[in-house]
Amino acid sequence: PKRVRVHHLAEAKARGERLTMLTAYDAVTARIFDEAGVDMLLVGDSIGNTMHGHTTTLPVTVDDLIPPARAVARAAQRAFVVVDFPFGSYEAGAEQALATGVRMMKETGVSAVKLEGGKRVVPQIRALTDAGIPVVGHLGYTPQSENRFGGPRVQGRGDVAAEQLSEDALAIVEAGAVAVVLEMVPAPLAARITEIVAVPTIGIGAGAQCDGQVLVWVDMAGMTDWSPRFAKRFGDVGAALRSAATAYVDEVRGGTFPDAAHQFDA
Ligand code: KIV
Ligand code: NA
Repeated sequence: PKRVRVHHLAEAKARGERLTMLTAYDAVTARIFDEAGVDMLLVGDSIGNTMHGHTTTLPVTVDDLIPPARAVARAAQRAFVVVDFPFGSYEAGAEQALATGVRMMKETGVSAVKLEGGKRVVPQIRALTDAGIPVVGHLGYTPQSENRFGGPRVQGRGDVAAEQLSEDALAIVEAGAVAVVLEMVPAPLAARITEIVAVPTIGIGAGAQCDGQVLVWVDMAGMTDWSPRFAKRFGDVGAALRSAATAYVDEVRGGTFPDAAHQFDA
């Protein structure tokens, strides 16, 4: 399959083709999602919540993200692979962001990086873009700022907040962002931002008018007891995995596995 490259993102938007993105944190799931035709794979700092047992993304480090990013980049034949910049790895300025970006690109083989924020990260996005590192932006509810937001809350409600979010989107695209994730943004505002920016918007809890959609894969596949309201369950993989594990336990305890087909003769 032909690799999705950075120019295909804007081309998809121009043609009105919706882009699909899922998180992935390992080679096993990355291969499955890539074969399913998912256009973009995000090695998100949501790995903190989904895989590492944290309750927020704040403890996640660059060192935590490099091995999964490398695994996903190796496994994906077609998808455009993006890795998150974790909290604390870019806020200080362009120099810090560039150091993080260079390390990510040298050590993982991903196609782009993603960072959170609007006007405040314009220097970082410009420096990375100038260095040849494509950047995906992330606006609206940005989980690394959850303590300032007071938890996951819809962002951009009301004229003033909507105007500010629109200006942030224009600013990061002007700085070089190749796509913009919009998280927990009212659908009409996400639609307006989608109209005014030249690059694809990728929504999560941001309505159907975005150029693409992203979900955290464990929410999408039904691996967890709880998931956010915007995250539809498209399968019951958790239940399927539990029943496979239960069957294995039963057969080993009952002495029916391994049978003749699964062992070796003398
Ligand atoms: O880390 C993540 O999974 C993300 C998506 C929710 C966009 O940033
Ligand atoms: Na993230």
